[in-house]
Amino acid sequence: MEIRNVKSSDYYIISPLINEWWDGREMSNKLPKLFFDYFNNTSFIAEKDGEIVGFLIGFLSQSDTNVAYIHFVSVNPEFRKKQIGRRLYNAFFNSIKKNNRNVVRAVTSPVNKASIVYHTKMGFNIEKGDIEIDGVSVFSDYDGINQDRVLFVKKTN
Ligand SMILES: CC(C)(COP(=O)(O)OP(=O)(O)OC[C@H]1O[C@@H](n2cnc3c(N)ncnc32)[C@H](O)[C@@H]1OP(=O)(O)O)[C@@H](O)C(=O)NCCC(=O)NCCS
Repeated sequence: MEIRNVKSSDYYIISPLINEWWDGREMSNKLPKLFFDYFNNTSFIAEKDGEIVGFLIGFLSQSDTNVAYIHFVSVNPEFRKKQIGRRLYNAFFNSIKKNNRNVVRAVTSPVNKASIVYHTKMGFNIEKGDIEIDGVSVFSDYDGINQDRVLFVKKTN
């Protein structure tokens, strides 16, 4: 398996797969083409025998020069729990280190238990929000009304 940077044309392969890879949730509208055009240096594709099996879209914060942000990560359900997500995150951590960023942030929905376990395994801490759901601290209405979120942060050095 290879890890490489994202290119613009990957959008047309990945976009139709997103909702299926998110267990039927409507997520593709949260990842428009611009992410495949302007964040290539910090976004990665996992490829096996020429087939895309995972991807990560991340970027360097414009407003905080210590911070990098992971917007999206997903692995083909048939290839999960084979350390592909970990390899994508490690590629991202290496790329941001070169840019002197030492804080990584990411956000997920409280319903996404796999994401919460995965980020915890990847060394992220959960920031203290204003409510608790199933023992996890959550920021209520973070992304708008009824759009609660779990906020992750990791120091990379
Ligand atoms: C979250 C996701 C990217 C993980 O990818 P993955 O390739 O299966 O993860 P890895 O194999 O690299 O796992 C890394 C660690 O997390 C653990 N982990 C991953 N998914 C897990 C799950 N569903 N339940 C429990 N542990 C899990 C692995 O066991 C592994 O632990 P280890 O290092 O102790 O062995 C994948 O489940 C996915 O694509 N989910 C749908 C999209 C999504 O929710 N993305 C995140 C929000 S943007």
